[in-house]
Amino acid sequence: MTNATVEVHLSPSFFDEALRSDARQGLLAQPRRIPPKWFYDKRGSELFDAITETEEYYPTRRERSILASHAREIAERTKARTIIELGSGSSEKTRLILDAAQREGSLERFVPFDVCEEALRGALNVLAERFPNLDLAGVVGDFEEHLWALPQGDRRMIVLLGGTIGNFEPTSRAAFLASIRTVLAPGDWLLLGTDLVKDAAKIERAYNDASGITAEFNRNVLAVMNRELGADFDVDAFAHRAWFDAANSWIEMQLVSTTDQRVTIAALDTHIDIAADEAIRTEISAKFQPDGIAGELTQAGFRTEAFWTDDLDDFGLTLAQAI
Ligand code: AVJ
Repeated sequence: MTNATVEVHLSPSFFDEALRSDARQGLLAQPRRIPPKWFYDKRGSELFDAITETEEYYPTRRERSILASHAREIAERTKARTIIELGSGSSEKTRLILDAAQREGSLERFVPFDVCEEALRGALNVLAERFPNLDLAGVVGDFEEHLWALPQGDRRMIVLLGGTIGNFEPTSRAAFLASIRTVLAPGDWLLLGTDLVKDAAKIERAYNDASGITAEFNRNVLAVMNRELGADFDVDAFAHRAWFDAANSWIEMQLVSTTDQRVTIAALDTHIDIAADEAIRTEISAKFQPDGIAGELTQAGFRTEAFWTDDLDDFGLTLAQAI
């Protein structure tokens, strides 16, 4: 991995602090919640990759088809020198953009940014072989905290794919888009993937795959709490639930306790009593309307330059430029 470096901004103490604070705020409150970033330990990152291969989970496939059709145009229009991917995971789809930007001759550096160090290192190993002439500068961090660590330079493009932006509630989404704009300079680019509003049954199927991988991914967050916080969640005593909340236009994912249970959380020096049928919210995943996305980008200081969908209009990809 000679052309790759990794900069770790999630120090063990930051990680502990952040997890403890999220657990204190989310698990001791009502309704209970755990932020989705804690899904992504090594196992969670692997389970997410497995989700993207299920028949039901359409977003990855649909977004890949858009990228396959438009990567060249993206490369030509942006002439990006540095591509930064937030929540990069395996960076599997991003390779389409990297290939195109290399062919365009503009690309110098790729900066995958992820919360999971193992997933990032794994991705870099694959990327280093595939892109031997590219400067690969991985960053392990929390993109709500560490955007300041991104490299400077001109013709940067931040890519945020897969619908990850959907994990934010509208208010924090606006703040997050604004914070992305703040680290960019006028003329820099944002490539944003968003899942679109469609038939609720189709969306719900994507989050309730028949083989139960999404359920396992969901429950894995409790294994993370058990390991990192010395908690004793009975992982098997929680059922997976995912439903489309049409009023909010988002999928809500929950873990529903199947029994009355007392859970000790050693790192917080406390315990919580969870009633049968009580739900812990683990994720929201917003589904967008095309004009809504453009409006939010305008608010954040971007001008939408292009918007593409796949053949079924399932997924949207927006190319925007910082004003
Ligand atoms: C990685 C946040 C885009 O919201 O669809 C997949 C995560 N959760 N199945 C999504 C996820 C359940 C995914 N994102």
